[in-house]
Amino acid sequence: MRIGIIGAGKLGSALIKGLLSRQDTSLRVIASARSTRSLERIKSLGVEVTHDNKYLVSVSDIVIICVKPSQVGEVADEVSCCGKGKVIISAVALVPLKWWEVRFPAGDVKLFRVMPNINVLVGESFTALTAHDGADSFSRSLVEELFKLLGSTAWVSEEVLDALTLISGCGPAIIAEITDALVLASLAIGIPQEVAEEAVLKLIEGSAKSLQEVELTKFRDMVITPRGLTIRLLRRLYKENFKSTLIESIESTYSVLAESKIRMLKDML
Ligand SMILES: NC(=O)c1ccc[n+]([C@@H]2O[C@H](COP(=O)([O-])OP(=O)(O)OC[C@H]3O[C@@H](n4cnc5c(N)ncnc54)[C@H](OP(=O)(O)O)[C@@H]3O)[C@@H](O)[C@H]2O)c1
Repeated sequence: MRIGIIGAGKLGSALIKGLLSRQDTSLRVIASARSTRSLERIKSLGVEVTHDNKYLVSVSDIVIICVKPSQVGEVADEVSCCGKGKVIISAVALVPLKWWEVRFPAGDVKLFRVMPNINVLVGESFTALTAHDGADSFSRSLVEELFKLLGSTAWVSEEVLDALTLISGCGPAIIAEITDALVLASLAIGIPQEVAEEAVLKLIEGSAKSLQEVELTKFRDMVITPRGLTIRLLRRLYKENFKSTLIESIESTYSVLAESKIRMLKDML
Protein backbone atom coordinates (compact mmCIF):
# COMPACT_ATOMS: atom_id res chain seq x y z
CA MET A 1 0.00 0.00 0.00
CA ARG A 2 1.44 3.36 -1.01
CA ILE A 3 0.44 6.40 1.04
CA GLY A 4 0.96 9.83 -0.51
CA ILE A 5 1.10 12.84 1.81
CA ILE A 6 0.59 16.23 0.19
CA GLY A 7 1.98 18.86 2.56
CA ALA A 8 4.50 17.31 4.91
CA GLY A 9 4.48 20.15 7.44
CA LYS A 10 3.79 19.68 11.14
CA LEU A 11 0.88 17.24 10.81
CA GLY A 12 2.17 15.59 7.62
CA SER A 13 5.60 14.92 9.16
CA ALA A 14 4.00 13.52 12.32
CA LEU A 15 1.89 11.20 10.14
CA ILE A 16 5.03 10.04 8.31
CA LYS A 17 6.89 9.37 11.58
CA GLY A 18 3.87 7.57 13.05
CA LEU A 19 3.48 5.36 9.97
CA LEU A 20 7.21 4.60 9.71
CA SER A 21 7.35 3.61 13.38
CA ARG A 22 4.88 0.78 12.59
CA GLN A 23 7.75 -0.89 10.69
CA ASP A 24 5.17 -2.37 8.34
CA THR A 25 7.03 -3.26 5.14
CA SER A 26 3.78 -3.29 3.16
CA LEU A 27 3.41 0.47 3.76
CA ARG A 28 5.36 2.85 1.56
CA VAL A 29 5.20 6.62 1.91
CA ILE A 30 5.77 9.41 -0.58
CA ALA A 31 5.44 13.04 0.51
CA SER A 32 5.42 16.52 -0.98
CA ALA A 33 5.99 20.06 0.25
CA ARG A 34 6.48 23.43 -1.43
CA SER A 35 10.01 24.35 -0.43
CA THR A 36 13.19 22.39 -1.12
CA ARG A 37 14.13 22.92 2.53
CA SER A 38 11.01 21.09 3.71
CA LEU A 39 11.56 18.33 1.16
CA GLU A 40 15.13 17.81 2.41
CA ARG A 41 13.84 17.60 5.99
CA ILE A 42 11.23 14.98 5.04
CA LYS A 43 13.71 13.04 2.90
CA SER A 44 15.90 12.62 5.98
CA LEU A 45 13.02 10.66 7.56
CA GLY A 46 13.63 8.00 4.91
CA VAL A 47 10.69 8.50 2.54
CA GLU A 48 10.48 9.36 -1.13
CA VAL A 49 9.82 13.05 -1.73
CA THR A 50 8.58 15.10 -4.66
CA HIS A 51 7.53 18.62 -5.61
CA ASP A 52 5.11 17.12 -8.10
CA ASN A 53 1.69 16.48 -6.53
CA LYS A 54 0.33 15.01 -9.76
CA TYR A 55 3.05 12.37 -9.75
CA LEU A 56 2.44 11.74 -6.02
CA VAL A 57 -1.26 11.09 -6.62
CA SER A 58 -0.60 8.91 -9.66
CA VAL A 59 1.69 6.53 -7.70
CA SER A 60 -0.33 6.45 -4.43
CA ASP A 61 -3.25 4.23 -3.41
CA ILE A 62 -4.28 6.61 -0.63
CA VAL A 63 -3.57 10.35 -0.63
CA ILE A 64 -3.70 12.42 2.57
CA ILE A 65 -3.88 16.17 2.02
CA CYS A 66 -2.30 18.10 4.91
CA VAL A 67 -1.97 21.67 3.66
CA LYS A 68 -3.44 24.80 5.27
CA PRO A 69 -7.04 25.73 4.29
CA SER A 70 -5.68 28.72 2.32
CA GLN A 71 -3.47 26.35 0.27
CA VAL A 72 -6.10 23.82 -0.85
CA GLY A 73 -7.17 25.70 -3.98
CA GLU A 74 -3.72 25.38 -5.52
CA VAL A 75 -3.43 21.69 -4.56
CA ALA A 76 -6.90 20.83 -5.89
CA ASP A 77 -6.21 22.60 -9.21
CA GLU A 78 -3.06 20.54 -9.54
CA VAL A 79 -4.39 17.07 -8.70
CA SER A 80 -8.10 17.07 -9.54
CA CYS A 81 -7.35 15.65 -13.00
CA CYS A 82 -5.63 12.52 -11.67
CA GLY A 83 -7.72 11.40 -8.67
CA LYS A 84 -9.69 8.74 -10.55
CA GLY A 85 -9.85 5.48 -8.60
CA LYS A 86 -7.94 6.96 -5.64
CA VAL A 87 -8.81 7.31 -2.00
CA ILE A 88 -8.39 11.01 -1.22
CA ILE A 89 -8.38 12.03 2.44
CA SER A 90 -8.40 15.65 3.51
CA ALA A 91 -6.99 16.46 6.94
CA VAL A 92 -7.51 20.14 6.19
CA ALA A 93 -9.57 21.94 8.82
CA LEU A 94 -12.86 23.58 7.82
CA VAL A 95 -12.93 22.77 4.08
CA PRO A 96 -16.10 20.68 3.57
CA LEU A 97 -16.56 17.56 1.47
CA LYS A 98 -18.94 19.61 -0.69
CA TRP A 99 -15.96 21.70 -1.76
CA TRP A 100 -13.80 18.66 -2.52
CA GLU A 101 -16.65 17.00 -4.43
CA VAL A 102 -16.73 19.91 -6.90
CA ARG A 103 -12.96 19.58 -7.43
CA PHE A 104 -13.09 15.83 -8.08
CA PRO A 105 -16.11 15.41 -10.33
CA ALA A 106 -14.82 12.18 -11.93
CA GLY A 107 -17.24 9.78 -10.20
CA ASP A 108 -14.98 7.13 -8.75
CA VAL A 109 -12.83 9.28 -6.44
CA LYS A 110 -13.36 8.16 -2.85
CA LEU A 111 -13.40 11.28 -0.70
CA PHE A 112 -12.90 11.45 3.06
CA ARG A 113 -12.23 14.05 5.72
CA VAL A 114 -10.33 13.29 8.91
CA MET A 115 -9.49 15.24 12.05
CA PRO A 116 -6.49 13.60 13.70
CA ASN A 117 -4.19 15.23 16.21
CA ILE A 118 -0.45 15.60 16.53
CA ASN A 119 -0.31 12.42 18.65
CA VAL A 120 -0.25 10.43 15.38
CA LEU A 121 3.46 10.92 16.05
CA VAL A 122 3.37 8.25 18.77
CA GLY A 123 0.40 6.22 17.47
CA GLU A 124 -1.94 7.76 20.07
CA SER A 125 -4.17 10.07 18.02
CA PHE A 126 -7.93 10.16 18.26
CA THR A 127 -8.97 10.53 14.63
CA ALA A 128 -12.50 11.51 13.61
CA LEU A 129 -13.46 10.21 10.16
CA THR A 130 -16.21 11.20 7.78
CA ALA A 131 -16.90 9.90 4.30
CA HIS A 132 -18.43 11.32 1.15
CA ASP A 133 -21.55 9.46 0.01
CA GLY A 134 -19.64 8.13 -2.99
CA ALA A 135 -17.10 6.24 -0.84
CA ASP A 136 -17.67 2.47 -0.88
CA SER A 137 -17.39 0.17 2.12
CA PHE A 138 -14.00 -1.17 0.97
CA SER A 139 -12.43 2.31 0.91
CA ARG A 140 -14.12 3.15 4.24
CA SER A 141 -12.49 0.19 5.94
CA LEU A 142 -9.16 1.02 4.28
CA VAL A 143 -9.23 4.55 5.75
CA GLU A 144 -10.33 3.27 9.16
CA GLU A 145 -7.56 0.64 9.23
CA LEU A 146 -4.97 3.23 8.21
CA PHE A 147 -5.84 5.61 11.04
CA LYS A 148 -6.18 2.75 13.52
CA LEU A 149 -2.43 2.27 12.97
CA LEU A 150 -2.06 5.75 14.47
CA GLY A 151 -4.45 5.52 17.42
CA SER A 152 -8.19 5.18 17.79
CA THR A 153 -10.89 6.29 15.35
CA ALA A 154 -14.59 7.16 15.24
CA TRP A 155 -16.97 7.82 12.34
CA VAL A 156 -18.79 11.09 12.93
CA SER A 157 -20.90 13.60 10.98
CA GLU A 158 -19.04 16.38 9.22
CA GLU A 159 -20.42 18.89 11.71
CA VAL A 160 -18.99 16.94 14.65
CA LEU A 161 -15.67 16.55 12.83
CA ASP A 162 -15.48 20.35 12.48
CA ALA A 163 -16.23 20.81 16.18
CA LEU A 164 -13.51 18.26 17.02
CA THR A 165 -10.98 20.61 15.37
CA LEU A 166 -10.97 22.45 18.71
CA ILE A 167 -10.79 19.34 20.92
CA SER A 168 -8.61 16.90 18.96
CA GLY A 169 -6.77 19.31 16.68
CA CYS A 170 -6.11 22.22 19.08
CA GLY A 171 -6.37 20.09 22.26
CA PRO A 172 -2.68 19.09 22.46
CA ALA A 173 -1.80 22.79 22.89
CA ILE A 174 -4.23 23.02 25.84
CA ILE A 175 -2.68 19.92 27.42
CA ALA A 176 0.82 21.34 26.83
CA GLU A 177 -0.20 24.57 28.60
CA ILE A 178 -1.73 22.68 31.54
CA THR A 179 1.41 20.53 31.75
CA ASP A 180 3.60 23.63 31.73
CA ALA A 181 1.49 25.30 34.44
CA LEU A 182 1.76 22.20 36.64
CA VAL A 183 5.54 22.02 36.15
CA LEU A 184 5.89 25.73 36.97
CA ALA A 185 3.68 25.29 40.04
CA SER A 186 5.90 22.38 41.11
CA LEU A 187 8.98 24.59 40.82
CA ALA A 188 7.18 27.30 42.81
CA ILE A 189 6.78 24.90 45.73
CA GLY A 190 10.35 23.62 45.58
CA ILE A 191 10.15 20.41 43.51
CA PRO A 192 13.28 20.00 41.34
CA GLN A 193 12.68 20.44 37.58
CA GLU A 194 13.44 16.83 36.46
CA VAL A 195 11.27 15.38 39.22
CA ALA A 196 8.48 17.88 38.42
CA GLU A 197 8.51 17.06 34.70
CA GLU A 198 8.39 13.32 35.27
CA ALA A 199 5.73 13.63 37.98
CA VAL A 200 3.48 15.80 35.82
CA LEU A 201 3.82 13.69 32.65
CA LYS A 202 3.13 10.50 34.57
CA LEU A 203 0.19 12.21 36.30
CA ILE A 204 -1.38 13.00 32.91
CA GLU A 205 -0.58 9.63 31.35
CA GLY A 206 -1.72 7.64 34.39
CA SER A 207 -4.90 9.68 34.87
CA ALA A 208 -5.83 9.23 31.18
CA LYS A 209 -5.44 5.47 31.60
CA SER A 210 -7.43 5.36 34.87
CA LEU A 211 -10.20 7.46 33.34
CA GLN A 212 -10.69 4.75 30.75
CA GLU A 213 -11.47 2.36 33.64
CA VAL A 214 -13.12 4.54 36.29
CA GLU A 215 -16.04 6.94 35.76
CA LEU A 216 -14.91 10.61 35.74
CA THR A 217 -16.49 12.00 38.91
CA LYS A 218 -15.80 8.76 40.83
CA PHE A 219 -12.13 9.07 39.86
CA ARG A 220 -12.02 12.69 41.09
CA ASP A 221 -13.80 11.76 44.33
CA MET A 222 -11.26 8.98 44.98
CA VAL A 223 -8.72 11.78 45.65
CA ILE A 224 -10.97 13.96 47.80
CA THR A 225 -11.23 13.66 51.59
CA PRO A 226 -13.63 15.86 53.60
CA ARG A 227 -11.87 19.09 54.62
CA GLY A 228 -8.75 17.78 52.92
CA LEU A 229 -6.21 19.47 50.66
CA THR A 230 -7.71 18.38 47.32
CA ILE A 231 -11.10 19.98 47.99
CA ARG A 232 -9.40 23.20 49.11
CA LEU A 233 -7.31 23.23 45.96
CA LEU A 234 -10.33 22.56 43.72
CA ARG A 235 -12.43 25.19 45.49
CA ARG A 236 -9.73 27.76 44.79
CA LEU A 237 -9.61 26.71 41.12
CA TYR A 238 -13.41 26.98 40.82
CA LYS A 239 -13.29 30.43 42.47
CA GLU A 240 -10.81 31.47 39.76
CA ASN A 241 -13.26 30.16 37.10
CA PHE A 242 -10.78 27.54 35.91
CA LYS A 243 -13.39 25.24 34.39
CA SER A 244 -15.75 27.86 32.98
CA THR A 245 -12.81 29.76 31.44
CA LEU A 246 -11.84 26.61 29.55
CA ILE A 247 -15.40 25.86 28.46
CA GLU A 248 -16.08 29.46 27.40
CA SER A 249 -12.78 29.68 25.51
CA ILE A 250 -13.68 26.61 23.47
CA GLU A 251 -17.27 27.75 22.97
CA SER A 252 -16.31 31.24 21.76
CA THR A 253 -13.60 29.86 19.46
CA TYR A 254 -16.24 27.53 18.02
CA SER A 255 -18.23 30.61 16.96
CA VAL A 256 -15.10 31.91 15.21
CA LEU A 257 -14.69 28.50 13.54
CA ALA A 258 -18.31 28.52 12.34
CA GLU A 259 -17.96 32.06 10.93
CA SER A 260 -14.67 31.17 9.16
CA LYS A 261 -16.37 28.14 7.63
CA ILE A 262 -19.19 30.26 6.19
CA ARG A 263 -16.73 32.88 4.90
CA MET A 264 -14.46 30.23 3.42
CA LEU A 265 -17.35 28.48 1.67
CA LYS A 266 -18.51 31.78 0.13
CA ASP A 267 -14.96 32.46 -1.15
CA MET A 268 -14.31 28.96 -2.36
CA LEU A 269 -17.50 27.82 -4.04
N1 LIG B 1 -0.87 20.58 13.14
C1 LIG B 1 -1.82 19.85 13.69
O1 LIG B 1 -1.69 19.37 14.81
C2 LIG B 1 -3.09 19.53 12.92
C3 LIG B 1 -4.08 18.70 13.51
C4 LIG B 1 -5.23 18.43 12.79
C5 LIG B 1 -5.41 18.99 11.52
N2 LIG B 1 -4.45 19.81 11.00
C6 LIG B 1 -4.68 20.37 9.66
O2 LIG B 1 -3.60 19.96 8.83
C7 LIG B 1 -3.30 20.97 7.89
C8 LIG B 1 -1.80 21.26 7.95
O3 LIG B 1 -1.49 21.80 9.21
P1 LIG B 1 0.04 21.91 9.68
O4 LIG B 1 -0.02 22.44 11.06
O5 LIG B 1 0.76 20.66 9.40
O6 LIG B 1 0.54 23.08 8.68
P2 LIG B 1 2.02 23.33 8.12
O7 LIG B 1 3.03 22.89 9.11
O8 LIG B 1 2.04 24.74 7.62
O9 LIG B 1 2.12 22.33 6.87
C9 LIG B 1 1.61 22.62 5.61
C10 LIG B 1 2.54 21.95 4.62
O10 LIG B 1 1.94 22.04 3.35
C11 LIG B 1 2.96 22.27 2.40
N3 LIG B 1 2.35 22.82 1.18
C12 LIG B 1 1.74 24.01 0.99
N4 LIG B 1 1.31 24.11 -0.29
C13 LIG B 1 1.66 22.96 -0.91
C14 LIG B 1 1.51 22.46 -2.21
N5 LIG B 1 0.91 23.17 -3.20
N6 LIG B 1 2.00 21.23 -2.50
C15 LIG B 1 2.62 20.48 -1.55
N7 LIG B 1 2.80 20.90 -0.28
C16 LIG B 1 2.32 22.12 0.03
C17 LIG B 1 3.90 23.23 3.09
O11 LIG B 1 5.17 23.17 2.44
P3 LIG B 1 6.41 24.10 2.94
O12 LIG B 1 6.86 23.48 4.24
O13 LIG B 1 7.42 23.93 1.88
O14 LIG B 1 5.85 25.48 3.08
C18 LIG B 1 3.91 22.63 4.50
O15 LIG B 1 4.92 21.64 4.60
C19 LIG B 1 -4.16 22.18 8.23
O16 LIG B 1 -5.23 22.25 7.34
C20 LIG B 1 -4.64 21.89 9.64
O17 LIG B 1 -5.93 22.40 9.86
C21 LIG B 1 -3.31 20.09 11.66
